[in-house]
Amino acid sequence: MDANNQPQMLPLRVMRNDKIADGIHILEFRDAGGQPLPEFSAGAHIAIQAPNGLLRKYSLCNDPAERNRYLVAIKREANGRGGSCNLIDNTKAGDELMVAPPVNDFGLPPRAQDFLFIAGGIGITPIMAMIREVLRQGKRFRLFYCSRSPEMTAFLDELSAPEFKNQVTIHYDQGDPARSLDLKPVLAERKNREHLYCCGPRPLMEAVRNMTDHWSSTAVHFEAFSEAETHKPTDKPFKLRLARSGEVLDVPTTKTILEILRDRGLEVPSSCETGTCGTCRTKLIAGEADHRDLVLAEHERADTVMICVSRAKSDEITIDR
Ligand code: FES
Repeated sequence: MDANNQPQMLPLRVMRNDKIADGIHILEFRDAGGQPLPEFSAGAHIAIQAPNGLLRKYSLCNDPAERNRYLVAIKREANGRGGSCNLIDNTKAGDELMVAPPVNDFGLPPRAQDFLFIAGGIGITPIMAMIREVLRQGKRFRLFYCSRSPEMTAFLDELSAPEFKNQVTIHYDQGDPARSLDLKPVLAERKNREHLYCCGPRPLMEAVRNMTDHWSSTAVHFEAFSEAETHKPTDKPFKLRLARSGEVLDVPTTKTILEILRDRGLEVPSSCETGTCGTCRTKLIAGEADHRDLVLAEHERADTVMICVSRAKSDEITIDR
């Protein structure tokens, strides 16, 4: 850690930058001197500084048992803020980039034996590390992988291999929501105390969240690879009352509750800041929240709020801070 409690960035060598599907490249990083890299567990991500200076987080997709390399699959987001395009277009084997060591907000519980994975598009990346680990440990899994077309599907060859084939369903929708995979039968019951891990576009994760209200909330896990919808054009400012001090703070449309609390100098735990990990769970004492997370079950929403993404429907809300 440096003086600001930030993890030290490592200079790592790019070993390859190869296209693996339309608009998707795989980048491999190693230590230039051949030293082992900091360990990671399935579901972890690293932050990479692109040549243009932007810092971007990407899930590791290789087997966590590999100690000598990090593999990330990056989708070229032409309408994004420039990190992915810059990494894909301006990085080549032999380059050195700064990489923050792995962090995991999406880990597998060690005692679980059965897993249900649902991936949409590039959301397959953390799931690839997970299925490699689950398989190596002799555990069981089912994977449903939604993609637009075979050409746009990363890891297609690998997932068609005999060791994966019988456990993997790949569904193509050709970009037509009417042809989306019907997940209702898949999620109708929780088989063998499965843990569900879902990563993909927000609409897919929200659909899965809505279809799993009858699952234990501790068995359902999400990871967002895109920005959370923390701000919408229709948002309104609201008052935030802190029950412990009685203080009332203004939350403008441009800031989250978490940011306002930090601006006020309060220490508030957080991790993903996309409404998926559950770290910022806070008791809601009064008022009505505008929930934008993927963590809370329906019955928790009246008295709990995830303050990294959610806002208020009422003019004022009171939280236990
Ligand atoms: S920090 Fe992860 S849900 Fe808020």
